[in-house]
Amino acid sequence: MEAYTPGEQPDDPNLIKLNTNENPYEPAPRVLKAVREAVGERLRLYPHPTADPLRRKLAALHGCSLDQIIVGNGMDELLALATRAFVEPEIHSTTRRSGRQIIQYFTPSYSLYPVLAAIHGARVNEVPLNTDFSIPRQALIKTAGWKSEVALTYITTPNAPGGQIYRNEDLRRLCKNTKGVIILDEAYADFAPWNTMPLVKEFHHVIVARTFSKAYSLCCQRIGYFVGPEPLITALHKICDSYNVNGLGQVAAAATLDELPYYRENIQRIIQERDRLTACLRQYKFNVLPSATNFILAAPPVGSGITESWFEHLHERGILVRWFPHSAIRRFLRITIGRPKQNRILGTTVGELLKSGPLPWGGKHWSSPNLR
Ligand SMILES: Cc1ncc(COP(=O)(O)O)c(C=O)c1O
Repeated sequence: MEAYTPGEQPDDPNLIKLNTNENPYEPAPRVLKAVREAVGERLRLYPHPTADPLRRKLAALHGCSLDQIIVGNGMDELLALATRAFVEPEIHSTTRRSGRQIIQYFTPSYSLYPVLAAIHGARVNEVPLNTDFSIPRQALIKTAGWKSEVALTYITTPNAPGGQIYRNEDLRRLCKNTKGVIILDEAYADFAPWNTMPLVKEFHHVIVARTFSKAYSLCCQRIGYFVGPEPLITALHKICDSYNVNGLGQVAAAATLDELPYYRENIQRIIQERDRLTACLRQYKFNVLPSATNFILAAPPVGSGITESWFEHLHERGILVRWFPHSAIRRFLRITIGRPKQNRILGTTVGELLKSGPLPWGGKHWSSPNLR
C-alpha cells in the first residue's frame, strides 16, 4: 500500500511556509497562558479519558448534547476510527461482496481516505469530480458511479485540495440518496460562507467532522472532533483508545473556545488575504480556482514553465508551497494563505520569476517523498 505523505516540516524559521495549510497567526495569548499553567506537577496524571470538559463546551457551541460529540487526536484519528467502526474489511468478511465493505469518496479530495481504506482492507468507490471540481450532476441522481449502498462515505466540504464549497441542497440530496454513514469533513469550514452542521439534525447517518488545526492555530496539539447522532458517536467511543486526547491539547482547545472573537478576526484577515493573493496571481495570468478555505490552487500561466519548475524555483527562494505530482491536480500549486507580508513576498517573487522567461526544471526535488 501507499502510505500517506505529510507535507515538509523544515526547521528553518526563515522559510516562508505555505505548504501545509497551517494558520499563520499564533494562538490567543490566553490559550498560551492556559497551556503554560497546565505544565507542572499535574503532568504525571492521566488526562480526562473522554475529554468531557472540552466536549461540554463543544456541545454548548453547537447546541447539541455531550453524547453527540467525540474528540480525537486530530480529526485524522477520528477518520481512522470511523473506518474501523463502520466498514467491514473485505479480507475478513464472511458475507458475500457487498456495500458493507465499501468506502466512497470523490476524487480529488483528502488524500488520507484511500490510505485509511487500504489499511483497513476495505474496497473503495472513487467518484471523479468534474474538471472544475464541482460535484457531477449525475451523482446527485445516483449515477456517475455514485453508489447508494456503501458502508462509509467521506465528503470534504469545502473540498481539499480543490477549495470549492458545495451547496447544502446538493449535499442534502447526496445524504438522502446514500445509505451507510456519511462523514462531512469540514476541516476548512471556518473559512467558508456556510457549513453543513444543520444536516446533523436532519439525518440519522450524518456526522460532521471538525478540527482545531486550521482556523484555531492548534495543529501541534492535535485536536479534532465529530458531531453526530448519538448511536454513532457511542459506537466510536466503544472502540476508541483510552485517553486518546492528550491533556495539554484538551486544555488548549477548551481555552480556545473562550477566545472565539480573536480567532474570528484572524479568519477574516486570512479570507481578505486569500482574495488579495488570488487577484494578484490572476494578474500574472495564473489560473486560480475560487476557494472557500485557507489555501488556493493556482496553475502557472501557459508557457511560463512546468508546475514542478515553479515549485522548485520558489523552494530555492525560501518559499514552500505544495505540489502533488501524482494526482489530478499536478498542474496546480497549492498555496496556504500566509501573513500579508509573506503573501506580498510570494507575489513579488512570482513577478520576478515571470520576467526571467520560462522556468527551466532541474528535477531536484522530484524524488522527495514529501512532495507527493
Ligand atoms: C480535509 C482534511 N481533513 C482532515 C484533516 C486533518 O485534520 P487534523 O489536523 O485535525 O488531523 C486535514 C488536514 O490537513 C484536511 O485537509
